[in-house]
Amino acid sequence: MAEEVLGSIAIFRPYLAKIAASLAILPLLISCATRQTDHADRQAHVSDTQMAVTPALVPFPAHLAVQSGQFAVSDGTPLLFDKVDADSARIAAIFADLVQRTPGLTLVPKPEGARAIVIRRLADPNATGKEGYRLEVTPAGVTISASQTAGLFYGTITLWQLLTQAPGTAHSVTIPALQIDDAPRFAWRGLMLDSVRHFQSVDFIRTLIDAMAREKLNVLQWHLTDDQGWRLEIKKYPRLTQVGAWRVPAGEAAEHDIDPATRKPLLYGGYYTQAQVRELVAYAAARNITIVPEIEMPGHAMAAIVAYPRLGTAAEPPTSVSSDWGVFPYLYNVNDETFGFLEDVLSETMALFPGTYIHVGGDEAIKDQWKASPVIQAKMRALGIASEDALQSWFIQRVEKFLNAHGRRLIGWDEILQGGIAPNATITSWRGIDGAVAAAKAGHDAVLSPAPTLYFDNRQAEGRDEPSGRGTIVTLGDVYDFDPAPTVLTADERRHIIGVQANFWTEHIREQDNVSYAVFPRAAALAELGWSPAAAHDRTRFLARMPTELGRYAALGLAHSTHITPDPAPLSARIRDSHELKPCGNAGLLSVEGPAPLHGKRPVFLHSPADPCWIYEKADLTGISQIQAAAGSLPYNRPISSSAQKVVLRLPATPNGELEVHLDSCEGVKIAVLPMPRPAPDVALATVRGSLAPQTGVHDLCLVFTRARPDPYWALHTVELVPGR
Ligand code: ACM
Repeated sequence: MAEEVLGSIAIFRPYLAKIAASLAILPLLISCATRQTDHADRQAHVSDTQMAVTPALVPFPAHLAVQSGQFAVSDGTPLLFDKVDADSARIAAIFADLVQRTPGLTLVPKPEGARAIVIRRLADPNATGKEGYRLEVTPAGVTISASQTAGLFYGTITLWQLLTQAPGTAHSVTIPALQIDDAPRFAWRGLMLDSVRHFQSVDFIRTLIDAMAREKLNVLQWHLTDDQGWRLEIKKYPRLTQVGAWRVPAGEAAEHDIDPATRKPLLYGGYYTQAQVRELVAYAAARNITIVPEIEMPGHAMAAIVAYPRLGTAAEPPTSVSSDWGVFPYLYNVNDETFGFLEDVLSETMALFPGTYIHVGGDEAIKDQWKASPVIQAKMRALGIASEDALQSWFIQRVEKFLNAHGRRLIGWDEILQGGIAPNATITSWRGIDGAVAAAKAGHDAVLSPAPTLYFDNRQAEGRDEPSGRGTIVTLGDVYDFDPAPTVLTADERRHIIGVQANFWTEHIREQDNVSYAVFPRAAALAELGWSPAAAHDRTRFLARMPTELGRYAALGLAHSTHITPDPAPLSARIRDSHELKPCGNAGLLSVEGPAPLHGKRPVFLHSPADPCWIYEKADLTGISQIQAAAGSLPYNRPISSSAQKVVLRLPATPNGELEVHLDSCEGVKIAVLPMPRPAPDVALATVRGSLAPQTGVHDLCLVFTRARPDPYWALHTVELVPGR
């Protein structure tokens, strides 16, 4: 490989010069997982003396050799596929559409004609594996060859990336001669989307599928049922979506949130019809993405129990779907009627989702109601089951038998290990990687999706413009640095790690564009973990390829973050946003949108709802006479993990509470007290201003709101130190 590249440098200099600005210019040697060591000396020598252009491919391929010469793809270039191969025709059409969108090339898909770009299925069904392909560019043309449909598709994705190295529109793009032999490191390269806590349109999910496919991600775990909603149409149980898909939004409704006819708040919600689901499943399959439905059990079941109270076990069944976050104690019953319901639901689910795996959740099933229910306790005694964890294990095993009998495999969150894992179950390890390690050691397959690193609802950067999310910052580099090969496992055990997955929970992400923003470009890092060989792992080179990748997102109009590396903005001396203040504690830290306005950009507040308190560090108070603050009134809404946090209340002296400013620490002397106005649900921010007892020098300020109850509460948005006398 080294020699090939060396020989070609002079030849493709013009190409280099034309597009160098947008390319990652990297030291030679591209990846070669198996041969890297053999060539290490020569490559090191070459990289000292020569530089070459590495195409900014994401995920980076397993083997890439740049060769002499180039090929120009232009408007009208024929795109040949085998006329008896329907998959090739479909892939050619998807590819032609993509290159039309960017860089703007008009190719002509057809089954015969002059050799140009050829999509060719190999006769040997195993030659390139399930998803692998070969992409050859020579001065005579481009050939994509693969044994399987997925490989043909991925070959076109890589070719499209070669055609989009440079930004802007082009009607002719010259690409270097090269050969890529590519195949993924892991079979499962997943993203989980929570469509319950907030609902996304079918169009958005289609866009997400397109974007995932361009990163060679191949599993979309679709979280369709939870406490806060049931989003999948089930014909036999219409109340699941008639009742279970709708909730009254948290907080006091603004006027435009109230139905003028009934004077009741408008409901939030929605669901996917079976026709829409079928369409999405087929759309995803055409892009090598399997949609794995997630039907939660035995917990996260409140919406279903609201729709059909007999499914639950609580003495007092819930009567409405909650808009509060967090984990609820409502568990399914364990009687035959409830299993009949679950089997009916799973039967309709299997009819919609043809993939092997059905995800049954299994996480965070608080067992209080099972413990309190005489019926459940009697059933446990009858079954000889000693603990509620063992009862959950029995429950999941019963469901697994049903799924296995229908040719499907059960997958669940790592809590399904508790009380004994079902015989054929696969684990999604989210509480770190321990669940995956335990599963692999016990001979079970596992997917790595540990919080917080692969939880993409965490913010990816500091800064006031960052959309809402959980408070922890997980950067693009943090995701890339995750090691998907736990060293505590032997090589044999490691074979049970079938892949990686990022999870996207939407409690705090209401807008679809913000889902996309949070997922991209971190999905590129995830894709690289899942696809590229371990030996090619190189953070610097990966980050250097990112500007090109971001250019592709921009060209396609995909909402995305531009934070490749953390770049904290300089602090203003006098005006700070909540993101530029230090939270007093980090427990349950969130960066959340306020409820107003209903449409359009809403202010985002970084804080811990259990203790809304901020430190303005190193404030120069000399000459400051007043302080001004803008704050939003937020519903307490039981944010995630609230049960583990102690809600801090500081009692107010006035009806709507006050903003108190303490000198040096939260126990320090109070130097300002600003009474807050009555919160108005239509008003995003209330502004207050008051005098500050004169000080000199630099001090930390502690800013806290008093409140008699947790809900609603004030969250600070911005604070300004106002000079004067
Ligand atoms: C989870 O985050 N509860 C799987």
